[in-house]
Amino acid sequence: MQEEKLLLIPGPTPVHPRIINRLSLPTISHVSPVFVREFKDALKNLKKIVFCEAGESFIVAGAGTLSMEMTLVNLLNQKEKALVLSQGYFGQRMKEISSAFGFECDIIQSPLGRAVQPEQVKEQIDKQDYALVLSTHVDTATGACAPIKEYAQVVKNKDILFAVDGVCATGGIEEKMTDWGVDVILTAAQKCFGVPPGLAVMVFSDRAMDKRKSLSFVPAYYGDLMKWLPIMKDPSKYFSTPCVNEIRAFCEGTRVMLDETMEVRFKRHQKTARAIRAGLESLGFSFFTEDKYFADTITVPIYPHGVRDDEFRTKLAEKRVLFAGGLGRLKGKVFRIGHMGNISYSQIEFAMDAVEKALSEIGYEFDKGSGLKAVKQVLQ
Ligand SMILES: Cc1ncc(COP(=O)(O)O)c(C=O)c1O
Repeated sequence: MQEEKLLLIPGPTPVHPRIINRLSLPTISHVSPVFVREFKDALKNLKKIVFCEAGESFIVAGAGTLSMEMTLVNLLNQKEKALVLSQGYFGQRMKEISSAFGFECDIIQSPLGRAVQPEQVKEQIDKQDYALVLSTHVDTATGACAPIKEYAQVVKNKDILFAVDGVCATGGIEEKMTDWGVDVILTAAQKCFGVPPGLAVMVFSDRAMDKRKSLSFVPAYYGDLMKWLPIMKDPSKYFSTPCVNEIRAFCEGTRVMLDETMEVRFKRHQKTARAIRAGLESLGFSFFTEDKYFADTITVPIYPHGVRDDEFRTKLAEKRVLFAGGLGRLKGKVFRIGHMGNISYSQIEFAMDAVEKALSEIGYEFDKGSGLKAVKQVLQ
């Protein structure tokens, strides 16, 4: 059997035993009363997690990229234009998806490691007509967390829908859909929900649903919200076979979250992030993301002189801890630690101890034990 490693990559994240247990139950009929009840619970819980008071939730086999695609194709007609607020890699993907469907789309790209400024958004939407503004909440490549609440305030003053890519944030960082005036939260199962990959997860406000209903055509079949809406209202109906085990696991994942309470969960993510940064700082690491934009779900440390990416992460993996490498032009210069979902404080301490051991073996000089001590000080 393969030895289990602690997955501190930016998704998939470690899966809680309660969730794994649901996943491993025998597969039941997708129209059985047990499954229908759990599917309904998952949809209801999802709205609580994003603080949506009026709207529809959707859970469809797929992943975050399908959520991005479904959001775009269901909210625009071919004459309308979208504006993407990109903090890095995944904002660019949003633009690529809109081009694939022939939608006109402008993009404001922030410097890497920072986020687009709300004033830039205001200036752009005053200049041009947009039907939809989309923003990544946390960019998984750069670790930058965008000021979603502030963007929402700017967009709210116009008749524009506002969608948030919460793939690396939803359930780990606060997102108050109704209060803030966010029309769509799109996400996936494998990050802050701590559920294995396999689901596209979305919540649409009533305003966003009205927009979809006003469109006579959307360039999608499987991804058409109107095909799925009857199923989400009554999961005993059929459109396309839902992934029964995965949705049962997702339902349990939402229960784990609500049992913890969202308030406690957000605070735990904040504390975990602070602890990891304190530990790494005391070992001499600096960070790619500017302080103001630090995310509570991911940290992107820069390698100090003398520490090579492949060597460090190989040594770490031998100690059963997995971090991810840098993406794109950051490859080899930074690494990425995902600290979201159902990760415990003792797992963070275990990881920091492994980091120190790996660094020692490489011959990197540092004050031994200082990383772990700093982590413990924050977590106590
Ligand atoms: C912010 C963000 N958006 C979208 C995606 C795409 O999600 P998926 O890989 O599930 O398709 C990711 C994946 O890491 C992401 O981090």
